[in-house]
Amino acid sequence: MMDMFSHVAPRYDLMNDVASMGQDRWWRHHTLDALAPQEGEIILDLAAGTGASSLPIARAGATVVATDLTEAMVKIGKRRYPQQSFVVGDALKLPYADASFDAATMSFGLRNVVNPGIVLAELCRVVRPGGTLVICEFSRPPSAVTRFMYRLWLKVAIPLVSKLASSHAPAYSYLSESILNWPDQRRLATMLELAGWTKIQWRNLTGGIVALHRAVRP
Ligand SMILES: C[S@@+](CC[C@H](N)C(=O)[O-])C[C@H]1O[C@@H](n2cnc3c(N)ncnc32)[C@H](O)[C@@H]1O
Repeated sequence: MMDMFSHVAPRYDLMNDVASMGQDRWWRHHTLDALAPQEGEIILDLAAGTGASSLPIARAGATVVATDLTEAMVKIGKRRYPQQSFVVGDALKLPYADASFDAATMSFGLRNVVNPGIVLAELCRVVRPGGTLVICEFSRPPSAVTRFMYRLWLKVAIPLVSKLASSHAPAYSYLSESILNWPDQRRLATMLELAGWTKIQWRNLTGGIVALHRAVRP
């Protein structure tokens, strides 16, 4: 898995924009809105990759600790955003003390870890009581028509675009498969509850292609 992200790292940000047809910027805007960072807060952006998900939060005035397992992604992030702090670390065993963060977020990362339940529990451990978690992840459109179009996009458009724009096309067949196998909105909410999170809410973006889950550490 780490190897796959090392291969996609050089053209990861370009592929995001192309494959999502610019929607990724919209999704990040809503993630920021749900997180509502306050100036001076310390926020963990887990599976931050090259830092594209960290930047809007840092711009809002919070201190963001971008953490990712893949050194190649972090290296590009550090080069691109020298002012941003990056840490190489595993979501399954976070290198942080209990209650270290005011909030945490994870964009398009949870689907890629081997045990998402453990990661959600780790996030609950490192966020302070009363702190929030925002998960931005692909999900299941409620409308059958949108689902049909979405599957077409995953099965036809993504493989085509990845051949043209990606540095590692096979990673994008993995992307399609992992999205189709990922739990829907309700099941992810149950996973959050089982990991110890409370006040769980979600909202759909782009017709449910992406869902934003928000939860509070009790
Ligand atoms: C699709 S990228 C998302 C990057 C970024 N959050 C964004 O929105 O563009 C997924 C990231 O998850 C990271 N990742 C996968 N397994 C991980 C783990 N166990 N711990 C930390 N990061 C992990 C990968 O290295 C990769 O950078």
